Order: sequence, then structure tokens, then C-alpha cells
Amino acid sequence: MILKGKHIVLGISGGIAAYKSATLLRLLVKGGAEVQVVMTPSGKEFITPVTLSALSGKPVVSEFFTANTGEWHSHVDLGLWADLMVIAPATASTLGKMANGIADNMLITTYLSAKEHVMVAPSMDLDMFASPSTQRNLALLKADGVEIIEPKSGELASHLVGKGRMEEPEEIVRRIEAFFSRCESLGGKKVLVTAGPTYENIDPVRFIGNYSSGKMGFALAGELARRGAEVTLVAGPCSLPTPPGKVSRIDVVSAKDMLSACEAHFDDCDAAILSAAVADYRPEVCAESKIKREKEGDMEMRLVRNPDIASTLGKRKGNRLLVGFALETDNEVENALGKMERKNLDMIVLNSLKDPEAGFNKDTNKITIIRRDGEQMSFPSKSKQEVAGDIVDCMFRQ
Ligand code: PMT
Repeated sequence: MILKGKHIVLGISGGIAAYKSATLLRLLVKGGAEVQVVMTPSGKEFITPVTLSALSGKPVVSEFFTANTGEWHSHVDLGLWADLMVIAPATASTLGKMANGIADNMLITTYLSAKEHVMVAPSMDLDMFASPSTQRNLALLKADGVEIIEPKSGELASHLVGKGRMEEPEEIVRRIEAFFSRCESLGGKKVLVTAGPTYENIDPVRFIGNYSSGKMGFALAGELARRGAEVTLVAGPCSLPTPPGKVSRIDVVSAKDMLSACEAHFDDCDAAILSAAVADYRPEVCAESKIKREKEGDMEMRLVRNPDIASTLGKRKGNRLLVGFALETDNEVENALGKMERKNLDMIVLNSLKDPEAGFNKDTNKITIIRRDGEQMSFPSKSKQEVAGDIVDCMFRQ
């Protein structure tokens, strides 16, 4: 029943596994989904649009225009209509174009306009799948948040045996159903997320800041929204796009601004995740005009303590779930435990600057989650999207 009324774009590119796409389409329609098929020109060589439009009850889209009527097919509208896009089969060429934004057919333009979650089910010969180029493209897509449905090992169209067979339609449907149940799992929950750095102004042209890009916090906001939560994202200065879904973003500059925004929204929330890298000190005075360089000598600046947002919220958290981060360079676990205690957190996410795949501005992170009850879970290095999934799983697990 979870598929009932869901809008799915089914992308089909030119691989022999396209014959299985008819079964996949049939299963989705039988489950109650509305499916719009979008094909690449070579996809049509493997299975006819007539078969697919008969199964979906909608004309298949594959060209930018319908030749005889001149009707324009809007990839943007398709992107807005869909709740999910699934590309099955996804050939090496289609994966490469998706990863690199080569928008030379309707399927890729639709993908580039997609605001919804995207899944790909690769299908190709074993050597093509194993090639560094395909693996590089898959890694790029994964970092962009695309869900990869790994191909299976078995006999391939070439009669060689190896990894490259598209996953079976029944299993793809199971993954789609799991995605939609995940989407609804946090329906009705409101979560506050802080992200990025804070800037503490020295004068109109200078500030004290740090290297946080906001990637970790934005990945968390995106993951929460994907699961149906309403997210208030309080973001320090960073240039990332707001994740899709119910995310209302409040841009702030300094720690004091961030605290005000958090205090204004905390009472209304069920949980808060504080992933921002907040400056602990700010200049006592912010000069109104640009500070001039003296002819000689050094300069001194007095710094005063910033408010601690986590501690402030921790004091009035009631039964809200409060999650902090700890960015450490040494005595990691001990320091993280101290922060969890002092700030009255329910859970702390430890990442260490000693890990080359963790921390500021990386696309990956390597975390240990420590819960109030003492349980510790260490994870291998993963993309920040996947790390966000692990954190949210751990917060809301039954
Ligand atoms: O943004 P990215 O480039 O993706 O990088 C992600 C990250 C490294 C910034 C993130 O993973 C992370 O570790 N964030 C917390 C960084 C930090 O400031 O850690 P901390 O150990 O100094 O602070 C502990 C906790 O107290 C944090 O939850 C922090 O948000 C909070 N804090 C700290 C100081 C302060 N004045 N107020 C706070 O609320």
C-alpha cells in the first residue's frame, strides 16, 4: 500500500536489462504508483515505448519535442511532479552523463532537474562495471546523494560470468518501498539543526571564523526532511543550497545570532542536532570602520566569551532529544564524554581531525556516536549523506 498514489519517474537507458523494466513497471503500477517512463534514444532499441506506455497508461517521454505536434516535454515539470526517480537499467554511459552533467537527452535533463530522491540500478558487462571510470562515476553519484542499487553477479549478456546484472525487479520494488516508508518514518517530527561556521566580526572587512563548510549539517537537514520531518536549519555563512523538502532555513552570521535563532525555535521542536562549528570567542569590540595598519608595531585584540548554544539549550531541554558534535584532535572519547555531560546532551557525535577522511569541508566523515547510556558505535568512513543517515537512525531508533 505504501506505493499508492506515489509519483515515480522510471528512467530506462539502453541496456539488455531494459526487458526487465517492463516487469518493474508492472509491479509499481500494480502497487498503486503513477509511473512516468522516460527513455534514452538507445533504450528504445531494447524495448518499445508502446509496451511501456500500455503498462503505465501514459505516453513514454524520450524526446524534447513530439515531432509531429511540436509539443515540448518539460523535464522541469517532471522533476517537480515526481516523488522518486529510478533509473533501471542505468548503463555506463548514462551513469557517466549523470555524474558529469552531460544533458544531451531527456533522461539526463530530467535527472538534472530532479528535486526528489534518485536511485540507479546499474547494468553492464563485468569489465565495464569494474572499470575505474564507471567506479569513479558511481562514487561521484553516491556523493551527490544518489542511491545505488548494486548489480548482482551472474551470467551476463556476453555469456561471461561476473558482477553487472541489474538487480531483479522485485528487489528494486522492495528498495523503493523501503525508501517510501523511510520518508514517512519521521512524519510529524520537528527538528532543529545548526550547520556551518560562525563569523565574529572584527571590523567591516575582517572576521574570526573557521573552516566549516556546512556540508555535515546540510546533509543532516536533508536526511531528516527525506524522512518526513519538518526541519529548521540555522546556517552560519556557507554557500550550500537548501535541501529539498520541509526545510526552513535561517541564515545567521555570529554565535549570538545563532543562539537567538535556536532559542526562538527550540521550544517548538522534538529534537535538535548541533553540528555547527561555533566560535567560542569574539572580539570585545567590532570596529565601525576598517582598522588601519599602524606604521609599526603589533596589534592586540581582546576576545570575550561567546554563549554556548548547546549548554543553553541543554538547560531547558525538557524531554527533547539534544544531539551535539565533538570535533577533537586528542583524547577524543574522554573530551566528547565531558562535553556530553557538561552540555546535558543525549548523544554526541565524535569526529577527529586526526582522521584524513573526517572533519571540515570533506565530503566524507568518520564518526563515533556516544549515547548517554554509555553505548558507543564507531562507523567506517562514509559520505556525509550516509553519516547523516546513521546519526538519524541512532537518534530515532525504537
Ligand atoms: O561543516 P563541515 O565542513 O561539513 O564540517 C563538519 C564539522 C567538522 C563542523 C562537524 O562535523 C562538527 O564536528 N561540528 C562541531 C564542531 C565543534 O564546534 O565542535 P566543539 O567540540 O567545539 O563543540 C561541541 C558542541 O558544542 C558542538 O555541538 C557545537 O555545535 C556546540 N557549541 C560549541 C561552542 C559554542 N559556543 N556553542 C555550541 O553550541
